[in-house]
Amino acid sequence: MKPILPGSLGDDGRPATLGVMGGGQLGRMFVQAAQAMGYYTAVLDPDPTSPAGLVAHYHVQADYLGEPGLAQLMQRSSAITTEFENVPAAALATLAAHRPVSPGAACVAVCQDRAVEKAHFERSGVPCAPYAVIETAAQLAAVPSQLLPGILKTSRLGYDGKGQARVADRAALAAAWDTLRCAPCVLEQQLPLALELSVIVARGADGQCVHLPVQQNLHRDGILAVTQVPAPDADAALQQRAVQAAESLAEALGYVGVLCVEFFLLQDGRLVANEMAPRPHNSGHYSIEACDVSQFALQVRCLAGLPLVQPRLHSPAVMLNLLGDLWLDPAGRERVPDWSGVLALPGAHLHLYAKGQARPGRKMGHLTITAADAATARAVALRAAATLGLPAF
Ligand SMILES: Nc1ncnc2c1ncn2[C@@H]1O[C@H](COP(=O)(O)OP(=O)(O)O)[C@@H](O)[C@H]1O
Ligand SMILES: [Mg+2]
Repeated sequence: MKPILPGSLGDDGRPATLGVMGGGQLGRMFVQAAQAMGYYTAVLDPDPTSPAGLVAHYHVQADYLGEPGLAQLMQRSSAITTEFENVPAAALATLAAHRPVSPGAACVAVCQDRAVEKAHFERSGVPCAPYAVIETAAQLAAVPSQLLPGILKTSRLGYDGKGQARVADRAALAAAWDTLRCAPCVLEQQLPLALELSVIVARGADGQCVHLPVQQNLHRDGILAVTQVPAPDADAALQQRAVQAAESLAEALGYVGVLCVEFFLLQDGRLVANEMAPRPHNSGHYSIEACDVSQFALQVRCLAGLPLVQPRLHSPAVMLNLLGDLWLDPAGRERVPDWSGVLALPGAHLHLYAKGQARPGRKMGHLTITAADAATARAVALRAAATLGLPAF
Protein backbone atom coordinates (compact mmCIF):
# COMPACT_ATOMS: atom_id res chain seq x y z
CA MET A 1 0.00 0.00 0.00
CA LYS A 2 1.18 3.51 -0.83
CA PRO A 3 1.62 5.41 2.45
CA ILE A 4 -0.98 8.04 3.29
CA LEU A 5 1.38 10.81 4.24
CA PRO A 6 0.31 13.22 6.97
CA GLY A 7 -0.73 16.56 5.57
CA SER A 8 -1.01 15.23 2.01
CA LEU A 9 -4.17 16.11 0.13
CA GLY A 10 -6.88 13.61 -0.63
CA ASP A 11 -8.88 13.41 -3.88
CA ASP A 12 -11.25 16.07 -2.54
CA GLY A 13 -8.39 18.52 -1.91
CA ARG A 14 -8.69 18.21 1.84
CA PRO A 15 -5.88 16.93 4.07
CA ALA A 16 -5.68 13.13 4.26
CA THR A 17 -8.36 11.85 6.61
CA LEU A 18 -8.19 8.76 8.82
CA GLY A 19 -11.54 7.21 9.72
CA VAL A 20 -12.56 5.13 12.69
CA MET A 21 -15.53 2.88 13.30
CA GLY A 22 -16.79 3.68 16.78
CA GLY A 23 -16.81 6.79 18.93
CA GLY A 24 -15.65 5.55 22.34
CA GLN A 25 -12.55 6.51 24.29
CA LEU A 26 -10.26 4.34 22.17
CA GLY A 27 -11.47 6.16 19.07
CA ARG A 28 -11.01 9.48 20.86
CA MET A 29 -7.35 8.78 21.67
CA PHE A 30 -6.76 7.46 18.13
CA VAL A 31 -8.23 10.70 16.75
CA GLN A 32 -6.05 12.77 19.05
CA ALA A 33 -2.91 10.89 17.96
CA ALA A 34 -3.85 11.23 14.27
CA GLN A 35 -4.51 14.94 14.65
CA ALA A 36 -1.17 15.47 16.36
CA MET A 37 0.43 14.19 13.15
CA GLY A 38 -1.62 16.48 10.95
CA TYR A 39 -4.33 14.13 9.73
CA TYR A 40 -7.95 15.01 9.50
CA THR A 41 -10.17 12.48 11.23
CA ALA A 42 -13.66 11.03 10.77
CA VAL A 43 -15.68 9.01 13.28
CA LEU A 44 -18.73 6.84 12.65
CA ASP A 45 -20.93 6.63 15.73
CA PRO A 46 -24.66 7.22 16.14
CA ASP A 47 -24.27 9.02 19.49
CA PRO A 48 -24.11 12.82 18.96
CA THR A 49 -21.98 13.16 22.13
CA SER A 50 -19.67 10.18 21.61
CA PRO A 51 -16.19 10.79 23.09
CA ALA A 52 -14.45 10.44 19.71
CA GLY A 53 -17.17 12.16 17.69
CA LEU A 54 -16.75 15.24 19.87
CA VAL A 55 -13.10 15.69 18.88
CA ALA A 56 -13.04 14.45 15.27
CA HIS A 57 -13.13 16.78 12.24
CA TYR A 58 -16.07 14.83 10.84
CA HIS A 59 -18.61 12.97 12.91
CA VAL A 60 -20.85 10.73 10.88
CA GLN A 61 -23.80 10.25 13.20
CA ALA A 62 -25.21 7.05 11.86
CA ASP A 63 -25.59 3.39 12.61
CA TYR A 64 -22.49 1.19 12.18
CA LEU A 65 -24.34 -1.29 10.03
CA GLY A 66 -26.32 0.97 7.79
CA GLU A 67 -25.26 1.58 4.22
CA PRO A 68 -25.57 5.42 4.50
CA GLY A 69 -23.20 5.70 7.48
CA LEU A 70 -20.61 3.40 5.93
CA ALA A 71 -20.85 5.28 2.65
CA GLN A 72 -20.32 8.64 4.36
CA LEU A 73 -17.39 7.36 6.40
CA MET A 74 -15.86 5.98 3.22
CA GLN A 75 -16.41 9.19 1.34
CA ARG A 76 -14.63 11.17 4.08
CA SER A 77 -11.77 8.77 4.83
CA SER A 78 -8.56 7.84 3.07
CA ALA A 79 -8.22 4.72 5.28
CA ILE A 80 -10.32 3.23 8.06
CA THR A 81 -9.72 1.44 11.36
CA THR A 82 -11.92 0.28 14.20
CA GLU A 83 -11.93 0.96 17.90
CA PHE A 84 -14.13 -1.96 18.95
CA GLU A 85 -14.07 -5.60 17.99
CA ASN A 86 -17.78 -6.05 17.62
CA VAL A 87 -17.96 -4.27 14.28
CA PRO A 88 -19.63 -6.78 12.01
CA ALA A 89 -16.99 -8.32 9.79
CA ALA A 90 -19.30 -7.69 6.83
CA ALA A 91 -19.17 -3.92 7.45
CA LEU A 92 -15.34 -3.98 7.47
CA ALA A 93 -15.33 -6.09 4.34
CA THR A 94 -17.64 -3.56 2.62
CA LEU A 95 -15.31 -0.72 3.58
CA ALA A 96 -12.23 -2.71 2.54
CA ALA A 97 -13.58 -3.05 -0.99
CA HIS A 98 -13.04 0.69 -1.41
CA ARG A 99 -10.48 1.86 1.15
CA PRO A 100 -7.47 0.49 3.03
CA VAL A 101 -8.85 -1.01 6.25
CA SER A 102 -6.82 -2.35 9.15
CA PRO A 103 -7.16 -4.59 11.00
CA GLY A 104 -8.80 -6.76 8.35
CA ALA A 105 -12.29 -8.21 8.65
CA ALA A 106 -11.02 -11.80 8.95
CA CYS A 107 -8.69 -10.91 11.87
CA VAL A 108 -11.43 -9.02 13.69
CA ALA A 109 -13.76 -11.99 13.19
CA VAL A 110 -11.27 -14.26 14.99
CA CYS A 111 -11.08 -11.90 17.98
CA GLN A 112 -14.89 -11.52 18.08
CA ASP A 113 -15.54 -15.11 18.98
CA ARG A 114 -13.87 -16.78 21.95
CA ALA A 115 -14.19 -20.26 20.43
CA VAL A 116 -12.55 -19.20 17.17
CA GLU A 117 -9.94 -17.21 19.11
CA LYS A 118 -9.00 -20.21 21.23
CA ALA A 119 -8.71 -22.36 18.13
CA HIS A 120 -6.30 -19.73 16.80
CA PHE A 121 -4.22 -19.95 20.00
CA GLU A 122 -3.99 -23.71 19.62
CA ARG A 123 -3.18 -23.51 15.91
CA SER A 124 -0.41 -21.01 16.67
CA GLY A 125 1.10 -23.21 19.38
CA VAL A 126 0.24 -20.75 22.17
CA PRO A 127 -1.25 -22.46 25.25
CA CYS A 128 -4.61 -21.29 26.60
CA ALA A 129 -6.92 -22.43 29.41
CA PRO A 130 -8.44 -25.91 28.92
CA TYR A 131 -11.92 -25.27 27.51
CA ALA A 132 -15.00 -26.69 25.87
CA VAL A 133 -17.33 -25.08 23.37
CA ILE A 134 -20.98 -25.16 24.50
CA GLU A 135 -23.53 -24.48 21.80
CA THR A 136 -25.95 -27.37 22.34
CA ALA A 137 -27.48 -29.22 25.29
CA ALA A 138 -25.49 -32.28 24.22
CA GLN A 139 -22.22 -30.31 24.43
CA LEU A 140 -23.28 -29.03 27.86
CA ALA A 141 -23.86 -32.58 29.07
CA ALA A 142 -20.55 -33.77 27.62
CA VAL A 143 -18.36 -31.18 29.38
CA PRO A 144 -15.41 -32.94 31.01
CA SER A 145 -15.49 -32.74 34.81
CA GLN A 146 -11.92 -31.44 34.99
CA LEU A 147 -13.11 -28.10 33.53
CA LEU A 148 -14.99 -27.48 36.81
CA PRO A 149 -14.86 -25.23 38.71
CA GLY A 150 -14.81 -23.07 35.63
CA ILE A 151 -15.81 -19.81 34.02
CA LEU A 152 -18.60 -19.82 31.49
CA LYS A 153 -18.18 -17.02 28.95
CA THR A 154 -20.40 -16.08 26.04
CA SER A 155 -18.44 -16.61 22.84
CA ARG A 156 -19.37 -13.18 21.54
CA LEU A 157 -19.93 -9.65 22.85
CA GLY A 158 -18.47 -10.07 26.35
CA TYR A 159 -16.34 -7.31 27.88
CA ASP A 160 -15.27 -6.09 31.30
CA GLY A 161 -16.36 -9.40 32.84
CA LYS A 162 -19.87 -9.10 31.37
CA GLY A 163 -21.39 -12.24 29.87
CA GLN A 164 -19.46 -14.44 32.31
CA ALA A 165 -20.30 -16.63 35.25
CA ARG A 166 -18.12 -18.59 37.64
CA VAL A 167 -19.54 -22.08 37.99
CA ALA A 168 -18.56 -24.55 40.70
CA ASP A 169 -20.31 -27.69 39.47
CA ARG A 170 -22.56 -29.10 36.74
CA ALA A 171 -25.75 -27.80 38.31
CA ALA A 172 -24.34 -24.26 38.47
CA LEU A 173 -23.08 -24.63 34.89
CA ALA A 174 -26.51 -25.62 33.60
CA ALA A 175 -28.16 -22.77 35.53
CA ALA A 176 -25.60 -20.23 34.26
CA TRP A 177 -26.01 -21.34 30.64
CA ASP A 178 -29.75 -20.91 31.08
CA THR A 179 -29.23 -17.40 32.50
CA LEU A 180 -27.07 -16.62 29.44
CA ARG A 181 -30.09 -17.72 27.32
CA CYS A 182 -28.25 -20.74 25.98
CA ALA A 183 -26.08 -18.42 23.86
CA PRO A 184 -22.99 -20.03 22.31
CA CYS A 185 -20.40 -20.14 25.08
CA VAL A 186 -17.02 -21.49 26.07
CA LEU A 187 -16.42 -23.04 29.45
CA GLU A 188 -12.87 -22.49 30.68
CA GLN A 189 -11.21 -24.19 33.58
CA GLN A 190 -10.75 -21.69 36.39
CA LEU A 191 -6.99 -21.34 36.64
CA PRO A 192 -4.85 -20.44 39.67
CA LEU A 193 -3.48 -17.08 38.52
CA ALA A 194 -0.21 -15.66 39.81
CA LEU A 195 -0.27 -12.58 37.56
CA GLU A 196 -2.06 -11.01 34.63
CA LEU A 197 0.04 -9.56 31.82
CA SER A 198 -0.71 -8.06 28.43
CA VAL A 199 1.37 -7.33 25.37
CA ILE A 200 0.56 -4.83 22.64
CA VAL A 201 2.11 -5.51 19.27
CA ALA A 202 1.88 -3.49 16.08
CA ARG A 203 2.40 -5.23 12.76
CA GLY A 204 2.77 -3.50 9.44
CA ALA A 205 1.65 -4.69 6.03
CA ASP A 206 5.27 -5.69 5.35
CA GLY A 207 5.22 -8.06 8.34
CA GLN A 208 7.42 -5.91 10.54
CA CYS A 209 6.40 -6.26 14.17
CA VAL A 210 7.14 -3.94 17.09
CA HIS A 211 5.80 -4.10 20.64
CA LEU A 212 5.23 -2.06 23.73
CA PRO A 213 6.85 -3.18 26.98
CA VAL A 214 4.95 -5.91 28.85
CA GLN A 215 2.13 -4.62 31.06
CA GLN A 216 1.17 -6.09 34.43
CA ASN A 217 -2.54 -5.74 35.08
CA LEU A 218 -4.77 -5.90 38.12
CA HIS A 219 -8.50 -6.47 37.58
CA ARG A 220 -11.26 -5.76 40.06
CA ASP A 221 -14.70 -7.26 39.44
CA GLY A 222 -13.60 -8.32 35.96
CA ILE A 223 -12.61 -4.75 34.97
CA LEU A 224 -9.04 -3.52 34.53
CA ALA A 225 -8.14 -1.38 37.55
CA VAL A 226 -4.34 -0.88 37.52
CA THR A 227 -1.57 -1.32 34.93
CA GLN A 228 2.09 -1.17 35.93
CA VAL A 229 5.04 -0.88 33.54
CA PRO A 230 7.67 -2.22 33.82
CA ALA A 231 5.80 -5.28 35.07
CA PRO A 232 7.05 -5.52 38.67
CA ASP A 233 6.64 -9.29 39.04
CA ALA A 234 7.62 -10.59 35.60
CA ASP A 235 11.29 -11.33 34.93
CA ALA A 236 12.96 -10.67 31.59
CA ALA A 237 12.64 -14.28 30.40
CA LEU A 238 8.92 -14.36 31.12
CA GLN A 239 8.42 -11.03 29.38
CA GLN A 240 10.23 -12.34 26.34
CA ARG A 241 7.99 -15.41 26.25
CA ALA A 242 4.91 -13.19 26.34
CA VAL A 243 6.19 -10.93 23.57
CA GLN A 244 7.11 -13.90 21.37
CA ALA A 245 3.69 -15.48 21.88
CA ALA A 246 1.92 -12.21 21.02
CA GLU A 247 4.04 -11.74 17.90
CA SER A 248 3.45 -15.27 16.73
CA LEU A 249 -0.31 -14.84 17.17
CA ALA A 250 -0.21 -11.65 15.07
CA GLU A 251 1.95 -13.30 12.44
CA ALA A 252 -0.23 -16.39 12.16
CA LEU A 253 -3.21 -14.10 11.52
CA GLY A 254 -1.37 -12.04 8.93
CA TYR A 255 -2.45 -9.19 11.16
CA VAL A 256 -1.98 -5.54 10.20
CA GLY A 257 -2.54 -3.03 12.99
CA VAL A 258 -2.34 -2.89 16.77
CA LEU A 259 -3.19 -6.10 18.61
CA CYS A 260 -3.31 -6.67 22.35
CA VAL A 261 -2.95 -10.14 23.84
CA GLU A 262 -3.92 -10.76 27.47
CA PHE A 263 -2.02 -13.49 29.32
CA PHE A 264 -2.27 -15.31 32.62
CA LEU A 265 0.86 -16.41 34.45
CA LEU A 266 -0.18 -19.46 36.44
CA GLN A 267 1.11 -20.29 39.88
CA ASP A 268 3.15 -23.18 38.42
CA GLY A 269 4.97 -20.78 36.06
CA ARG A 270 3.03 -21.60 32.89
CA LEU A 271 2.03 -18.71 30.64
CA VAL A 272 -1.34 -19.01 28.90
CA ALA A 273 -3.08 -16.64 26.50
CA ASN A 274 -6.47 -15.38 27.68
CA GLU A 275 -7.88 -13.24 24.89
CA MET A 276 -6.95 -10.85 22.08
CA ALA A 277 -8.24 -7.39 21.21
CA PRO A 278 -7.82 -6.24 17.58
CA ARG A 279 -7.12 -2.63 18.58
CA PRO A 280 -5.36 -0.53 21.20
CA HIS A 281 -6.21 -1.66 24.73
CA ASN A 282 -6.97 -0.12 28.09
CA SER A 283 -3.75 -1.63 29.44
CA GLY A 284 -1.75 0.39 26.87
CA HIS A 285 -2.99 3.85 27.77
CA TYR A 286 0.12 4.51 29.85
CA SER A 287 2.12 4.52 26.59
CA ILE A 288 0.77 8.00 25.73
CA GLU A 289 3.03 9.58 28.34
CA ALA A 290 5.50 6.81 29.21
CA CYS A 291 6.69 5.70 25.75
CA ASP A 292 8.21 7.60 22.87
CA VAL A 293 5.57 6.08 20.56
CA SER A 294 2.11 5.42 22.01
CA GLN A 295 -0.23 2.57 21.09
CA PHE A 296 -2.44 5.11 19.31
CA ALA A 297 0.46 6.55 17.31
CA LEU A 298 1.25 2.94 16.32
CA GLN A 299 -2.35 2.47 15.18
CA VAL A 300 -2.05 5.63 13.05
CA ARG A 301 1.22 4.43 11.53
CA CYS A 302 -0.16 0.97 10.74
CA LEU A 303 -3.28 2.37 9.16
CA ALA A 304 -1.43 4.97 7.09
CA GLY A 305 1.33 2.57 6.03
CA LEU A 306 4.03 4.62 7.76
CA PRO A 307 7.25 3.14 9.19
CA LEU A 308 7.03 1.34 12.52
CA VAL A 309 9.78 1.84 15.07
CA GLN A 310 10.25 -0.07 18.29
CA PRO A 311 8.76 2.05 21.09
CA ARG A 312 10.96 2.83 24.09
CA LEU A 313 9.66 3.21 27.62
CA HIS A 314 11.28 6.40 28.86
CA SER A 315 9.41 6.62 32.18
CA PRO A 316 8.14 3.88 34.47
CA ALA A 317 4.38 4.29 34.78
CA VAL A 318 1.30 3.26 36.72
CA MET A 319 -2.15 3.70 35.18
CA LEU A 320 -5.29 3.83 37.31
CA ASN A 321 -8.64 3.38 35.60
CA LEU A 322 -11.22 5.96 36.61
CA LEU A 323 -14.64 4.29 36.74
CA GLY A 324 -17.96 6.04 37.22
CA ASP A 325 -18.07 4.95 40.86
CA LEU A 326 -15.65 7.80 41.64
CA TRP A 327 -18.30 10.33 40.65
CA LEU A 328 -20.79 9.00 43.20
CA ASP A 329 -20.71 9.60 46.93
CA PRO A 330 -21.73 6.83 49.34
CA ALA A 331 -25.33 8.07 49.14
CA GLY A 332 -25.28 7.76 45.32
CA ARG A 333 -25.21 11.53 44.69
CA GLU A 334 -22.98 12.85 41.90
CA ARG A 335 -19.77 14.60 42.91
CA VAL A 336 -16.57 15.76 41.21
CA PRO A 337 -13.53 13.72 42.22
CA ASP A 338 -10.64 15.61 43.84
CA TRP A 339 -8.77 16.47 40.64
CA SER A 340 -6.86 19.29 42.35
CA GLY A 341 -5.46 16.84 44.86
CA VAL A 342 -4.52 14.41 42.09
CA LEU A 343 -2.99 17.04 39.81
CA ALA A 344 -0.85 18.32 42.68
CA LEU A 345 1.07 15.04 42.46
CA PRO A 346 4.26 14.98 40.36
CA GLY A 347 3.98 13.09 37.06
CA ALA A 348 0.17 12.91 37.09
CA HIS A 349 -1.53 12.85 33.67
CA LEU A 350 -5.31 13.00 33.77
CA HIS A 351 -7.43 11.77 30.86
CA LEU A 352 -11.20 12.19 30.94
CA TYR A 353 -13.27 10.93 28.04
CA ALA A 354 -16.06 13.52 28.20
CA LYS A 355 -18.74 10.92 28.82
CA GLY A 356 -21.64 12.79 30.32
CA GLN A 357 -23.24 10.35 32.67
CA ALA A 358 -21.18 8.60 35.36
CA ARG A 359 -22.40 5.09 36.13
CA PRO A 360 -20.82 2.46 38.36
CA GLY A 361 -18.29 0.45 36.34
CA ARG A 362 -18.35 2.88 33.39
CA LYS A 363 -14.91 3.84 32.11
CA MET A 364 -14.86 7.63 32.49
CA GLY A 365 -11.12 8.24 32.22
CA HIS A 366 -7.72 7.14 33.40
CA LEU A 367 -4.82 8.58 35.32
CA THR A 368 -1.22 7.81 34.42
CA ILE A 369 1.58 8.50 36.86
CA THR A 370 5.05 8.66 35.36
CA ALA A 371 8.28 8.99 37.34
CA ALA A 372 12.03 8.61 36.96
CA ASP A 373 11.93 5.18 38.64
CA ALA A 374 9.32 2.49 39.20
CA ALA A 375 9.30 2.77 43.00
CA THR A 376 8.45 6.47 42.80
CA ALA A 377 5.74 5.90 40.17
CA ARG A 378 4.15 3.30 42.42
CA ALA A 379 4.40 5.44 45.56
CA VAL A 380 2.82 8.44 43.82
CA ALA A 381 0.12 6.25 42.25
CA LEU A 382 -0.74 4.91 45.71
CA ARG A 383 -1.11 8.50 46.91
CA ALA A 384 -3.35 9.25 43.92
CA ALA A 385 -5.44 6.17 44.67
CA ALA A 386 -5.82 7.24 48.31
CA THR A 387 -6.77 10.78 47.25
CA LEU A 388 -9.51 9.40 45.00
CA GLY A 389 -10.71 6.79 47.49
CA LEU A 390 -9.49 3.86 45.37
CA PRO A 391 -8.11 0.72 47.01
CA ALA A 392 -4.34 0.25 47.29
CA PHE A 393 -2.70 -2.31 44.94
N1 LIG B 1 -9.92 -19.17 33.11
C1 LIG B 1 -9.77 -18.22 34.04
N2 LIG B 1 -9.22 -18.50 35.26
C2 LIG B 1 -9.09 -17.54 36.20
N3 LIG B 1 -9.47 -16.25 36.03
C3 LIG B 1 -10.01 -15.90 34.87
C4 LIG B 1 -10.20 -16.86 33.80
N4 LIG B 1 -10.78 -16.22 32.79
C5 LIG B 1 -10.96 -14.93 33.16
N5 LIG B 1 -10.50 -14.72 34.41
C6 LIG B 1 -10.51 -13.42 35.11
O1 LIG B 1 -11.57 -12.62 34.61
C7 LIG B 1 -11.06 -11.45 33.92
C8 LIG B 1 -11.91 -11.11 32.71
O2 LIG B 1 -11.94 -12.21 31.82
P1 LIG B 1 -11.73 -12.02 30.26
O3 LIG B 1 -11.86 -13.37 29.63
O4 LIG B 1 -10.49 -11.29 30.01
O5 LIG B 1 -13.04 -11.22 29.85
P2 LIG B 1 -13.28 -9.73 29.35
O6 LIG B 1 -13.54 -9.87 27.90
O7 LIG B 1 -14.48 -9.30 30.11
O8 LIG B 1 -12.04 -8.93 29.64
C9 LIG B 1 -9.62 -11.82 33.59
O9 LIG B 1 -8.83 -10.67 33.42
C10 LIG B 1 -9.24 -12.62 34.82
O10 LIG B 1 -9.00 -11.79 35.94
MG1 LIG C 1 -10.08 -9.41 29.27
